[in-house]
Amino acid sequence: MIYETIITSVDANQQAHIAPFGIREEDGRVLIAPYRPSVSLDNLLAHRSAVINLTDDVRIFAGALTGRRTWPVSKAEKIHGYVLDAAIAHRELALEEVKDDPVRPSLYFRVVHEVNHRPFKGFNRAQSAVIELAVLVSRLHMLPIGKIDAELAYLQIAIDKTAGPRELEAWGWLTETIDNFKAAINGDNQA
Ligand SMILES: Cc1cc2nc3c(=O)[nH]c(=O)nc-3n(C[C@H](O)[C@H](O)[C@H](O)COP(=O)(O)O)c2cc1C
Repeated sequence: MIYETIITSVDANQQAHIAPFGIREEDGRVLIAPYRPSVSLDNLLAHRSAVINLTDDVRIFAGALTGRRTWPVSKAEKIHGYVLDAAIAHRELALEEVKDDPVRPSLYFRVVHEVNHRPFKGFNRAQSAVIELAVLVSRLHMLPIGKIDAELAYLQIAIDKTAGPRELEAWGWLTETIDNFKAAINGDNQA
């Protein structure tokens, strides 16, 4: 099972670096597997620590893929790291083992601290739609335009029926990125 989370790592300037990652739990440890190249990977290897942030503010997922990576954070309690203020819960991790790979290394972490900040309010379809679209945006260069258009039309239904202001804002950032990508392709074709 994969859980979609926001991983905060510490960058070369000692600031928080924010990026979405799907994580797994294996034998009591947390597995994070970044594709190379990845700033998060470099940070995780350099500082050997990470924070898993569980948040329902899907703007942070969409923002990471559309150039909006500055969100309020506070210092982690037990490790060198940062916690998103928007986290419903967070877990602080220490790197225990690295299985290196030229494409996608596997990083295994031990949980050293865990905090619940506020209650989970329930599932929201628009939030899921934003996360799905964010995954598509992270793969724009690999997907046929027809698939993107078809998925977009389907996901739009959940947005129209169930979104609040944060989901609509995140959706707008992602669809703008897709529109710009398509315009660039059409521009290239005409050139
Ligand atoms: C929901 C979601 C899950 C993701 N999971 C992964 C992942 O497991 N591994 C990965 O390399 N990228 C994943 N990505 C893409 C990264 O977030 C994206 O490439 C990001 O820019 C990380 O790069 P960075 O470490 O250089 O910031 C995911 C994106 C989304 C929206």
